[in-house]
Amino acid sequence: MKPIFADNAAIEQAAKLLRQGRLVAFPTETVYGLGADASNAEAIKQIFAVKGRPTTHPLIVHIGDADQIKDWAQKIPDNAKKLASHFWPGPLTLILNKKNSVPSEVTGGQNTIALRMPDHPVALALLNKFEGGIAAPSANIYCRISPTQASHVEEELGDTIDMILDGGACRVGVESTIIDLTGPIPKLLRPGHISKAEIEAVLDSELQIVTASANGNKSTETMAPGMMPVHYAPTTRAALCEHDKLPQILNNLRLQNKRVGLLSYQFNPPENRLMHMLCMPEQAESYAQILYTCLRELDNRELDIILIEQTPDTEAWRAINDRIKKATSNFKNN
Ligand code: TXA
Ligand code: MG
Repeated sequence: MKPIFADNAAIEQAAKLLRQGRLVAFPTETVYGLGADASNAEAIKQIFAVKGRPTTHPLIVHIGDADQIKDWAQKIPDNAKKLASHFWPGPLTLILNKKNSVPSEVTGGQNTIALRMPDHPVALALLNKFEGGIAAPSANIYCRISPTQASHVEEELGDTIDMILDGGACRVGVESTIIDLTGPIPKLLRPGHISKAEIEAVLDSELQIVTASANGNKSTETMAPGMMPVHYAPTTRAALCEHDKLPQILNNLRLQNKRVGLLSYQFNPPENRLMHMLCMPEQAESYAQILYTCLRELDNRELDIILIEQTPDTEAWRAINDRIKKATSNFKNN
């Protein structure tokens, strides 16, 4: 299935396919989603089958209007209304108590539901045409890198889904920030473009950070599968490297004739024909925008290893560092 330019006719066709219980990939501002009618349990099952994702990993339901929260959630706290009115449409997902009418397939059997109103003209037009909620995980095979361009979706899922709407490259580049509002203290389950500080400013209270332990064990009751360290990984071995250690590591790999990919942040390496280097931007927002495209690019070059130069340990880089950690967790010792 080739991507189709997302004009009005294509969006109309996509809405029709969703109504028939078929799968449609579409762009959002974060990454491309693999969409299905969120009220159709059979369609939802297809998402899990196509992605190879365990059926216990809950999906995000995308809505076209903040008022639709009440169609999916109950006992909605004021904080949800505050965050939605401040950040939606936008890259923020809220975890709330689900209504009984929501198919349990969508929520992986949990009593809670993830909701988000995306900030992308194609996603919003599709939601408006469809007039319902669209369940959509990132449109990649389970545990692979999320797609940020329509061609990435085609590469990975092209043969197995009914339509790919092409809306260009995603503006944000990493998945939405996820906030759990079901307990007494709001929790940050997944860092994203909207920062902890921005959310705390609106809530007027501190967010509790929930992190996955290195071996992937549950550290809280509402463990988000996206928090599993093996997520977002390229198939090539990938390793995180401190700036100061890079010369020695690169030299060792050169002596072993290894084909090396490097996502460099500030490092200028010596000439080496076996090295494939991509220079990354110094600004966090620009870095995030192209991170997955660059990882995918290096992953396609049949290299022995991909090195990622460590980025700053500051709030602006939290989401990026989280994704880099997950991409490199399969290989730690350089
Ligand atoms: O930016 C995004 O969020 C993208 C675009 C397509 O919207 N979607 C996305 O979906 O990243 P997915 O399925 O790849 O990641 C959804 C995350 C998972 O980590 C899942 O565990 C978490 O949301 N999630 C969904 N429902 C949840 C729930 N009830 N409780 C806790 N976590 C939940
Ligand atoms: Mg995903």
